[in-house]
Amino acid sequence: MDWGLRNRMSRILQPADGRTVMLAVDHGYFLGPTHHLEKPAATIAPLLPYADAIMLTRGVLRTSVNPDADKPMVLRVSGGTSVLQEDLSNETITTSVKEALRLNAAAVALSIFVGARHEHESIVNLAHLVNEAEEYGLPVLAVTAVGKELEKRDARYLSLACRIAAEHGARFVKTYHCEGFHKVAESCPVPLIIAGGPKLDTDLDALEMTRNALEEGAVGVDMGRNIFQSDAPAAMIQAVGKVVHEDASPDEAYELFRELARETTFA
Ligand code: 5RP
Repeated sequence: MDWGLRNRMSRILQPADGRTVMLAVDHGYFLGPTHHLEKPAATIAPLLPYADAIMLTRGVLRTSVNPDADKPMVLRVSGGTSVLQEDLSNETITTSVKEALRLNAAAVALSIFVGARHEHESIVNLAHLVNEAEEYGLPVLAVTAVGKELEKRDARYLSLACRIAAEHGARFVKTYHCEGFHKVAESCPVPLIIAGGPKLDTDLDALEMTRNALEEGAVGVDMGRNIFQSDAPAAMIQAVGKVVHEDASPDEAYELFRELARETTFA
């Protein structure tokens, strides 16, 4: 691995433990003004100090993050379909590698849609992006997207999708946690991080999912809605960080969440 690529990866996966708490705020690229992300700047600013990296589009980066921010930015560079379509897989590369470099991105991210109508295009997009980005030492994060078919999230499917992503050159892969997740992790030769998916019933559920994913081989999270849609987002990201970086149990982390959430309420 080149020095530049290693350096970028180590800004995201923290050298102390090889883990990461990424904050995902890229939802608007196909969902528009997502709940609690209507004003990205207001959502991002209080969470920024507790995130190891932020995943976002160039539009939100330019308009809603202070350029003084000393955090690695993982730039989503795929898109082209909105939530109004039944099939979300018709994505292409929407942001150039040149633009990613100009924005000083630490990595670029793109979705692949294995088994969907546009599977072929999305996998070829990944391969092309890897070819170009790696010329400049820019790592690629592949996202194993399922579009509206959330039921696809099982170990058999995700193992297939993650392995395909790694085989095409993704340096790390974002996927979902599922039952039997260890099988997904064992058959994927690059680090895996998990998305949170739609908001779970409780904050404790999200902390338990994080703990389980780590125990089964993930190196962290790239979590969005289960953080910014929490009633206490800053408390929640710190609680997730406690699980990821301090090996806290979900109950210990939830205790921290409650303390911090109380402080915010009475501040
Ligand atoms: C969709 C995405 C998202 O836009 C987002 O990053 C997912 O985060 P979460 O599920 O935790 O809200 O990658 O494929």
